[in-house]
Amino acid sequence: MTKYIIANWKSNLDINKAIYWLEQLEEYFFDVSAKNFFRNHEIIIAPPYPLIPVLAELSRSLKVKLSVQDLSPYGAGSYTGAVCAQNLTGLNVNYALLGHSERRRLFQETPSIVADKLIQAWQADMTAILCLDQEEIEPQLQAIQSQVENWQEKKEQLIVAYEPAAAIGSGESADVEQVQTVIEKIRQIYHQPAVLYGGSVTAQNTADFLQISDGVLVGSASLKTADFIRLLEAIKEASQ
Ligand code: PGA
Repeated sequence: MTKYIIANWKSNLDINKAIYWLEQLEEYFFDVSAKNFFRNHEIIIAPPYPLIPVLAELSRSLKVKLSVQDLSPYGAGSYTGAVCAQNLTGLNVNYALLGHSERRRLFQETPSIVADKLIQAWQADMTAILCLDQEEIEPQLQAIQSQVENWQEKKEQLIVAYEPAAAIGSGESADVEQVQTVIEKIRQIYHQPAVLYGGSVTAQNTADFLQISDGVLVGSASLKTADFIRLLEAIKEASQ
């Protein structure tokens, strides 16, 4: 099964730094063994919105995917400041990160708002990466699921990312065994095709988390290409 490696840049970097980042990644893939190994992985970059048009071209040639970090709960129309799925047409964006812990905490996103965003993403044929930040994930997932009618039909376009709030940006990743328990629970109850882990993932711990999950969501350690490439190298080495 495909493993996902997602770089969530949050509100960091600018266009020059982003281009440099992708050029460095391109250089890393000059190494044929790296290029071949990561063919079986889905590398996804979630940049700030304004960087997407420029990254769209570069990402096509590099075969990395793009995700937005958020999406409007509405369609096209009079919603000042919001970016909806239709605005992204033609920009090579296949994924939408939804319900991130920072969105819930700092922007007051409720389960019903997250559910509306999920519906918008699916209507635009995007794959949603739904973030859950509570140790008790069932009520959090249930609160969203109960508001989305065609959940079962769309499950192939849903990736769940378990990111315990305390582990995000703290430098203290969650306990691998505890994460494994949660991930197995999500897989059993929801027959979820892909479940990822996020929260202080680094080159040092990424292989452990990849072993028990379908991928990792990386924030701080994705901002500098050197760190991100170290993380990719650690994944490659662990598989040998
Ligand atoms: P972090 O962020 O790797 O800096 O903890 C992860 C995330 O919030 O997606």
